[in-house]
Amino acid sequence: MKIKTIRAHELLDSRGNPTIEAVAVLENGSMAAAMVPSGASTGQHEALELRDGDPARYLGRGVLKAVAHVNDEIAPALAGMDVRDQKGIDQTMLELDGTAKKSRLGANAILSVSIACLKAGAVAEGIPFYAYVSTLLDPEPAGKFIMPIPMMNVLNGGKHAEGSADMQEYMIMPVGAPCIVEAVRWGAEVFHRLGKIIQDKSWPTTVGDEGGYAPPVKSNEEPLQLIMQAIEKAGYRPGEQVAIALDPAATELHVDNKYHLEKDGRKDLTYEQMVDLYEDWIRKYPIISIEDGLAEEDWSGFNHLMEETEGKIQIVGDDLFVTNAQRVRIGIWENAANSVLIKVNQIGTITEALETIKLAREHEMTCIISHRSGETELPFEADFAVGTHVGQIKIGSLSRSERVAEYNQLMRIERELGDRAEVATFRLRK
Ligand code: PGA
Ligand code: ZN
Repeated sequence: MKIKTIRAHELLDSRGNPTIEAVAVLENGSMAAAMVPSGASTGQHEALELRDGDPARYLGRGVLKAVAHVNDEIAPALAGMDVRDQKGIDQTMLELDGTAKKSRLGANAILSVSIACLKAGAVAEGIPFYAYVSTLLDPEPAGKFIMPIPMMNVLNGGKHAEGSADMQEYMIMPVGAPCIVEAVRWGAEVFHRLGKIIQDKSWPTTVGDEGGYAPPVKSNEEPLQLIMQAIEKAGYRPGEQVAIALDPAATELHVDNKYHLEKDGRKDLTYEQMVDLYEDWIRKYPIISIEDGLAEEDWSGFNHLMEETEGKIQIVGDDLFVTNAQRVRIGIWENAANSVLIKVNQIGTITEALETIKLAREHEMTCIISHRSGETELPFEADFAVGTHVGQIKIGSLSRSERVAEYNQLMRIERELGDRAEVATFRLRK
């Protein structure tokens, strides 16, 4: 089925910032739309998100240039191509852009089209989006679909919630749930219990960018204590049924080669001291995964964390890898992590994101399909995670419609698949 045209326009994301939507129209008149998310604690090696920089519109955050690049350059270049040729479509855009970081056309322009075509490919084939995604992977997994275990960000800090913890994300993972529908219920119950605990302290129950509470905690450890209480009050066994995952987003804590934890009154921590802190917490709490525990250039720190935790914990690279296969290769060489966070907008095309997933798999690293802190109302990660069979997904808390939209989509997919859905088990490959 051939692409007739592609149209783009400017809309808003969940933070009220402009983002781009692309609509791929096929020759038979069917179409599919995609919107692009946006990060706040972005990695310096990410592909470039093109913003207009015109202070007269949206404080310089408009995306009309990216929109024009889709309408004037990308659309004519792709018209007439088979929409199922995802590699060819992405390659054409890479050549048209011609830069290493997609800085001419903008990674937001390119990605909006890459996802719109992916979705339109599913429409052309007449199969669900997740099923279509699975056909792009080689070898195509047969029969069952692996439902991903969610990482639920119930307490937000860092750049996603001013006044809360310095560390960005305190997540729960319902590792013991028999299916997604139950996992979502368990998560929502723990989230609401946490809300009650925060309310009982007479703290505000406002939420951060990813829908987790953002209370004025006194230390970076306090959220862990609150979450433990919430898990127990909700009637679940910590660790066995509901475990904890962290994303300190430590690049944001790293100043002049030292780590700063303002809430703890601790400045100038070395990477060894950060790793000591994590080890202490791992002993006290059921933490099974730490993402960006060190800063994006601190390969030695990441390696130290890997060695000290001896593969018992999932060590995830987000800003460290930026979904970029080249960076993952360095990470493998440095033994810096055993897991790769996959955010399609860090790299800018579906084809490159799939290549990064394949590379990670070849090296026995786990992958987590992830949203961004600035999201849209069109679900994407749920289908992408089921279709890629990675077994884990990170889509925020159990509040705010742009987050809940992904949980709802996961539940729809599981119900549609029936016996063919199998929930992943949390297993470290290395
Ligand atoms: P971001 O944060 O989308 O603001 O970059 C998410 C994360 O660090 O995982
Ligand atoms: Zn992160």
